[in-house]
Amino acid sequence: MRVAIMTDEVGWHTRQLQAALRARGAVGRCIDLADCHIDTTLAWHGLALPGYGRALPDAVLVRGLAGGSFEQVTKRLGVLHALRELGVPVYNDARAIERSVDKSMTSLLLHAAGVPTPPTWATESQAQARRIAVREGATGHALVLKPLFGSQGKGLQLVGEVDGVHHALPALDRGFGSLAYLQRFVPATAVPGFDWRVLVIGGHAIAAMRRVSMHWIHNVAQGARCEAAELTPALAQLAEQAATALDMDYAGVDLIPSAQGTQVIEVNGVAAWQGLQRVTGFNIARAIVDDLLDRRCAVQRTLGDAA
Ligand SMILES: Nc1ncnc2c1ncn2[C@@H]1O[C@H](COP(=O)(O)OP(=O)(O)O)[C@@H](O)[C@H]1O
Ligand SMILES: [Mg+2]
Repeated sequence: MRVAIMTDEVGWHTRQLQAALRARGAVGRCIDLADCHIDTTLAWHGLALPGYGRALPDAVLVRGLAGGSFEQVTKRLGVLHALRELGVPVYNDARAIERSVDKSMTSLLLHAAGVPTPPTWATESQAQARRIAVREGATGHALVLKPLFGSQGKGLQLVGEVDGVHHALPALDRGFGSLAYLQRFVPATAVPGFDWRVLVIGGHAIAAMRRVSMHWIHNVAQGARCEAAELTPALAQLAEQAATALDMDYAGVDLIPSAQGTQVIEVNGVAAWQGLQRVTGFNIARAIVDDLLDRRCAVQRTLGDAA
């Protein structure tokens, strides 16, 4: 069994995955999607993956996908789409990754599936964004403006009044790609504030942690500390519903406590788990690899038999 680990960064996560694959008698090779290309003279399928010659991997595990130009990202996702079309199990599939990378699509799908998530707007109009901020402000709500493709808590800004301080809506063409992705701000329910990260693998929530910090942005990359958290049935159910709404094989779900109950903020399709592993008793990479080999590859085999 040869598994391509798609990653732009070789390190702790890829070593964990390779060890877990080895323990199952499989081989994991790290490949950067940037180095994959299309070559219709090479093989019948037209894909060229470093280290695979004319062959294709038996399965693909997507661990990291570097940003780039619109054209580069289209090609990188195209390679994942092509692998799926060629019958290779891709864990998470390109369609799932696209759904989660686009925060507005995540919000829309969560909302449509009835998963509690704060009210959200995405608009290209600066005037409309301003009107939304004014309307929300009139009902006592502030907003969070997020880069559509953001990660690690980078670039988020408050809009409206929080703790007596007014935050103006910035010009959308400065750092936001002329798009306003606005979400109702959920004030902290405790001091210091926190959110939860729950990892869902193969439809089952398997571990949770709290990310705690004085700043309202609780990403580890922004200095939040990780604490073990009990995976309550309610938390597990919400995270599982969120992962299902986006059709994810595995997902890192961000949830936030609020006066109205727990809300899902974000679903990560290429989730990191180093922080979670530090506060979790069992091996997460092994759980991912077991789910890939025992469930996902089995589903693909069944589909292949039926075709
Ligand atoms: N609507 C919101 N209300 C309150 N806090 C929020 C809201 N949205 C995001 N945050 C905080 O900012 C963090 C990062 O936001 P998130 O949407 O997960 O983007 P990223 O992809 O950068 O992680 C969240 O984990 C949470 O702590
Ligand atoms: Mg997040």
